[in-house]
Amino acid sequence: MSKLVRFGVSLEEDLLVKFDRHIKQRKYTNRSEALRDMIREELVKKEWTENKEVTGAITLIYNHHTRELVTKVLDVQHDYHTCILSSQHIHLDHHNCFEIIVTKGKSKDIEELYQKLKAVKSVKHAGFMMATKGKHIT
Ligand code: NI
Repeated sequence: MSKLVRFGVSLEEDLLVKFDRHIKQRKYTNRSEALRDMIREELVKKEWTENKEVTGAITLIYNHHTRELVTKVLDVQHDYHTCILSSQHIHLDHHNCFEIIVTKGKSKDIEELYQKLKAVKSVKHAGFMMATKGKHIT
């Protein structure tokens, strides 16, 4: 871990009030930690836009009774098997399935995989969480 550096920030009072209200709602106990997280979040986004090696999770909710849907979801995943680390299938109830797909690879490929899964007809909900191993983030 690199050493801590202090720096001053100038901003409009109104903006600071909004910031403090926002971080209080998010349960931060101080501005520094909130700011560090925001900076890290931006750096993660940057890694994704630069097509770096990243990791992430895709979630899907679908009705497995829908004709051909499960086969299509599996076909797409097999097309991208090199960037899928694991997947977990949870039977939510009699009709609905919840699938979590953990990915690692070039961000462009993972986003493509997500878009293709999301576009499968009758997928009720698709979620996407981008992350990084944090090689460039301490
Ligand atoms: Ni199921």
